[in-house]
Amino acid sequence: MLVTGLEILKKARAEGYGVGAFNTNNMEFTQAILEAAEEMRSPVILALSEGALKYGGKALATLVQELARDARVPVAVHLDHGSSYESVLLALRLGFTSVMIDKSHEDFETNVRETRRVVEAAHAVGVTVEAELGRLAGIEEHVAVDEKDALLTNPEEARIFMERTGADYLAVAIGTSHGAYKGKGRPFIDHPRLERIAALVPAPLVLHGASAVPPELVERFRAAGGEIGEAAGIHPEDIKKAIALGVAKINTDTDLRLAFTALVREGLNKNPKEFDPRKYLGPAREAVKEVVKSRMELFGSVGKA
Ligand code: G3H
Ligand code: 13P
Ligand code: NA
Ligand code: ZN
Repeated sequence: MLVTGLEILKKARAEGYGVGAFNTNNMEFTQAILEAAEEMRSPVILALSEGALKYGGKALATLVQELARDARVPVAVHLDHGSSYESVLLALRLGFTSVMIDKSHEDFETNVRETRRVVEAAHAVGVTVEAELGRLAGIEEHVAVDEKDALLTNPEEARIFMERTGADYLAVAIGTSHGAYKGKGRPFIDHPRLERIAALVPAPLVLHGASAVPPELVERFRAAGGEIGEAAGIHPEDIKKAIALGVAKINTDTDLRLAFTALVREGLNKNPKEFDPRKYLGPAREAVKEVVKSRMELFGSVGKA
């Protein structure tokens, strides 16, 4: 069933578990994510970026909406990294139940003003809002304190930001970054900062760039002919710790992309004569589903729906 993002996330933060927001661009990913959620009895968030909407258009939005409505678990359909008021309005018109406005690259006052504007529009039609404060950047553990402060979310600013904007959940910058290269070894996560933010912000917190980029998946991709450099993701224990401190929404895209593409490569390599797309997309869809299920286990959302 289709519900707002806040309905899912409020319960998650209150009860101390995390809910995955998984990015989708097509039918296979959407089915994989929803089937995993149903099998695990887990709430879930389907995230569509502006790039996803550009790629899949109304066809994708309609498909996602329809499958989310039919699901036997709570599902929110979410706009990921909305860059403008116009982009959010489009998502509202398409029936999304959660939107993100990302003005984190603007100065604080502009971020407040633009976020507030989106909150007013979204709340008017019963949709809940994610906002972001701070820069999503992989940083080294030993960089100077003032350098960290310049990039990462300031706890006191976060409190004021949430009061002034009325946003429902907040994406924080604590050292994670998007994609497959999050830093060397075990990327640094600023848990003490997260703890201070959580003490001042009662709203559910959001962790972007949370993919694990599992070594075995990277190896599988490589073995199938994929090229990838020094990939590194967020350690599962660092995710667990973040959830215990107040993170309720955990974004995962890269892990799903890696799994899907590794399996497509394997499928094509194995049978060069095959040109029925279902023969290699089917197993790739299964692989995405398995990754989503293991993320749900890690987040503690299994059985919460
Ligand atoms: O944070 C970005 C998400 O992984 C979506 O990526 O903009 O390439 O669709 P995208
Ligand atoms: P990853 O690249 O770590 O999967 O992060 C995805 C994300 O934050 C989408 O908004
Ligand atoms: Na998002
Ligand atoms: Zn993100």
